[in-house]
Amino acid sequence: MPLVTTEEMFRQAYEGGYAIGAFNVNNMEIIQGIVNAAKQLRAPLILQVSAGARRYANQTYLIKLVEAALIDSDLPIALHLDHGDSFELCKECIDGGFTSVMIDGSHLSFEENIELTRRVVDYAHSHDPKVVVEAELGRLEGVEDEIRVSAEDASYTDPDEVEEFVTRTKCDSLAIAIGTSHGAYKFKPGQTPKLRFDILEEVARRLPGFPIVLHGASSVIPEYVQMINTYGGSMPDAIGIPEDMLRKAATMAVCKINIDSDLRLAMTGTVRKHLAEHPAEFDPRKYLGPARLAIEELVSNKIINVLGCSGKA
Ligand code: G3H
Ligand code: 13P
Ligand code: ZN
Repeated sequence: MPLVTTEEMFRQAYEGGYAIGAFNVNNMEIIQGIVNAAKQLRAPLILQVSAGARRYANQTYLIKLVEAALIDSDLPIALHLDHGDSFELCKECIDGGFTSVMIDGSHLSFEENIELTRRVVDYAHSHDPKVVVEAELGRLEGVEDEIRVSAEDASYTDPDEVEEFVTRTKCDSLAIAIGTSHGAYKFKPGQTPKLRFDILEEVARRLPGFPIVLHGASSVIPEYVQMINTYGGSMPDAIGIPEDMLRKAATMAVCKINIDSDLRLAMTGTVRKHLAEHPAEFDPRKYLGPARLAIEELVSNKIINVLGCSGKA
């Protein structure tokens, strides 16, 4: 099966009350762990590549690994650019074979965000084959691509703006800010995690049937934070988005849930444990193999407990 766009995936997810997992990929073991889980559970997949991942791995290598995943799994897979920050970057990915791109103009003024998003949409939609575009309104706290957005600079999405934004940009999906944030430290110690479901509901009312995206949606699984700290790490208290909140969002208008930090924690915790228990080990396969398995287990749990997309491929 060739790469697909997210159009049909999102239509079915919206109607079916589930979401598709969008997992960040940086190397072969991460891709294999994710794809092995999705293959077992027949789950549709979005594999997403950030600008940092392109710099780290070289886009050509990642595209070829994703092509291998298609051959290996026969699943519907979309290849997505995560947090594109310029027209030129989006164009490069569209021309390079991505089926979906995100243009993140969330740091710009409303008018500038519309102008930049519209330019990317025009290019993506007239490309043969058509490429779909995710845009963002509202600003998430946290670190992404080495840029830190402080709590003061973060802002919830204003539902009054979404209809005009979607109509004028013609974007295919919209990332909104309802209290999720990037990275492993989403809430302060002692703070009770909270998402603004009222904003999500109001956005869905204004944009019936339109797919909404949640960034910063890792749950920061305590087991892996603990594993990192048990085997030589010293992460401060890390708190993520509770799984039941994500599950609720997936039954609403949210069709795409972005997960990266949980993959990093699972991989790092497992590698640390293996090396601590086998101090003489120097064969990378011996610690990357268990890390790949940890990712597979993590993604299986996400598909079943959070996304609800098992058997939907
Ligand atoms: O939201 C950003 C993702 O976690 C990607 O992170 O830019 O460090 O690859 P990265
Ligand atoms: P997390 O940092 O919560 O995994 O979010 C990832 C993300 O939003 C990628 O775009
Ligand atoms: Zn993000």
